[in-house]
Formats: sequence, structure tokens, C-alpha cells
Amino acid sequence: MLAVLDLPKKHGKFSIFLITKVMQHSFENIIADKLAGKKEKGMLRSLIQPQGLDFSNNDYLGLANHYEIASTAAEAYIKHGAGSKGSRLLGGNHKVFEETEKWLANWKGTEAALIFNCGYNANLGVISAFCDSKTHLFCDRLSHASILDGYAMSSGKLHRFKHNNPADLEKALQKVTGEGLKLIAVEAVYSMDGDVAPLKEYADLAEKYGAMLYVDEAHSDGILGPGGKGLVAQLGLESKVHLSLTTFGKSYGTMGACVFGSQLMIDYLINHARSFIYSTAISPGAVISMQKAVEVATRESFRRESVLKMSAYFRGKITEAGINCLQSETQIVPIVLGTLEKTRKCHALLLEKGFYTAYVRPPTVPNGTARLRINICATHKEKDIESLAEEIIYYIHPI
Ligand SMILES: Cc1ncc(COP(=O)(O)O)c(C=O)c1O
Repeated sequence: MLAVLDLPKKHGKFSIFLITKVMQHSFENIIADKLAGKKEKGMLRSLIQPQGLDFSNNDYLGLANHYEIASTAAEAYIKHGAGSKGSRLLGGNHKVFEETEKWLANWKGTEAALIFNCGYNANLGVISAFCDSKTHLFCDRLSHASILDGYAMSSGKLHRFKHNNPADLEKALQKVTGEGLKLIAVEAVYSMDGDVAPLKEYADLAEKYGAMLYVDEAHSDGILGPGGKGLVAQLGLESKVHLSLTTFGKSYGTMGACVFGSQLMIDYLINHARSFIYSTAISPGAVISMQKAVEVATRESFRRESVLKMSAYFRGKITEAGINCLQSETQIVPIVLGTLEKTRKCHALLLEKGFYTAYVRPPTVPNGTARLRINICATHKEKDIESLAEEIIYYIHPI
């Protein structure tokens, strides 16, 4: 309807025709109204390409354009073809999958591993697979959408505890009685806050209450731990974590994901994870590039070191100026501005200065905490990070 009203007068007859058409399609009005409502609230999402110096993407180690990884992937695509041809259970189980899963499990030190076509699907599959009507799922208030969407597919009972708060988790665990499975699902590093989860405390609670612990290492793998093997490895919790997730689209610069655990857990997922069972497997070329990316990330430790050093440098400048970047301890540094308006303005000003940042607003983050999310990557130079910090400080505290 709106589109018709916008038409110039000379299209009179055509407009009447269109109005009739649109009235017939009232579902389109409903959808257009929903979008208009979002636009009115300043919440409309649209696709834009990063411009200038990009501080928004998750290519933390700068591996997305790494020649060795890209050429290994290209050769693998030519050798094995562009597609996997089917779900792993129906014609898509190439031997490359099993070889790589063996290699990845050995890298992580688990008995078994299962490749998914992305981290979102992995979380969807894992959470929904374990959450039947008797299961109690415990997750952080700031859990990633993929964990909550996995829950939405399930018939389990959800308990959300305060962010990074083991005492609140314990309170929730104490309230649950009965025989059902207790599943604690947490992230090692929170994607919009950049803070690190108290995993040791969670592991102790899991043990005390006989719960299963699942750790999503999407933003910690490649960065934290020995050789970038993640937070579970950094804290020596391998024997206390029952399942964990690595995604390859972030630090490893490629795509896909892998879930690690005992053979029992993996066999269960093969039989219950719907996003695994009912989806075409990722291509063998992408699988081969997972291994190559891990090899390169492990070997080129200067990338990880630079990310950690430069993020500490950036955070230091920002906090010295009294700016709120929450409890960030990693390469993800939130600049919390509160309102949509303030955040949008800061985003636009930085863009004018040549810096592209991620503008994050509710519902992705809690109300009143709209923010810029700055991701420090190995490809960023110290002078650029310094200029970015100066521009942010100037916007927030103009002299
Ligand atoms: C914590 C967390 N888990 C899972 C995912 C999904 O991973 P992928 O991008 O591979 O689908 C993301 C991606 O944003 C994430 O931040």
C-alpha cells in the first residue's frame, strides 16, 4: 500500500490496478506493516558492506585471506567437487569428514568429533537433541541466539541465570529435583561483551549437581589457551567438559563448525541432532580447509599474540578515558553508548573517519545497552587502533 501512495500522479491508472492487487494480497500489507514498525523504532536491519578499515568482522587472526588456507581449499574443491551431495546419513558422508573429525578430535584431545555446517546449526542440533520434556537447560542470560533457538525447538525446561554468575546458576540447580537430565550450556567468551566465563566454577557445579556441561568456544578458540586451543584447554578442564563447540567462521577464517565429546555423546548427536540429520553436509573442500586453518593458526602464534596485545592496548586507552567497555578481557571490546541514537551517531562519525564498526542494538543486546562492538584483529596496526580509540574518546568526551 505504501509503495502505491509513493507513485507519481502520472501513474494514476496503474496505481488503481496496484491498489487492487495489494488489497488482494493482504499478507503483504501485514508484512510491510511489521517492517514499517521496526523502521519507526529505528530497529530496521539492512545489509551494508563494510567500508574503510573494518573493525566489525570476526576474522580475528586474519586467516580469511591466508594464501595457504585458501589454496588448500581451492585444490580440495577441485579434487572433491563443490558439494557433499547429501546429508551425512544419506549419501553425503565423504571419507574426508571422518578423517578430519579424527584429526580434530585428536587436536582437541577428545574421543570423538562431529562436523556441522555452521555453529548456529551445531547449537541448534546439540541443545534440541538433549532437551526432551524431562531435561532442564541452564543457560546464561546473555546466551547466543543459537542456544536459545535450540531450546525453542525442544520441549525442555529453561532456567536462565545471571550473566557469568555461578552463584545464581547454583540457586537454579538447587531448585531442580527429579531424574531428568540437567544441561548447562555456556559460552567461553561472550560475543557481544568480550568477557570470559567462570568455567572452572561452572565445571565444579556441573560435577556437584550431576549436570552435563556444554561450552561454546566460538570466540575463544584460536585466541585463548595453548596454541589457541580454547578456554577449556587453558583452564585444564578437558575431563570436566562433556561437549564443546568450535566454529571455523571466526578465528579460523573459513566456515563450518565441530562439536567435540566422547563417542557416546557424538553417537547420540548423530541420532538426535535434527540440524545434522536433515541438512546437506558442508562441502568436503570446506572440511579440508578446517584442518589447514587450525594448523596455520596453531603454528603462527604471532597472530594470537598480536590480537591479545593490541586488544589490551585498545581497552587500556578506552577505560583510561572512563568509557564503559563492560568486563571485556578479549579481542571483542564493546563501547556501550546506551541509546540507539547515540550509538548510530558514533557509528556514522567513525565511518566518516574511515572506521567501520559493528553497531549492535536490542534485541541482540539488553535494552539500554546499545553499543559499538569493536573486534581487534591480527591485521590491525597499532596506529589505526590508536586513531580509532582517539575518535571514540573524542565523540564521547569532546574537548
Ligand atoms: C557464541 C556463538 N555461537 C555460535 C555462533 C554461530 O556460529 P556460525 O557463525 O558458525 O554459525 C556464533 C556466531 O555469531 C556465536 O557468536
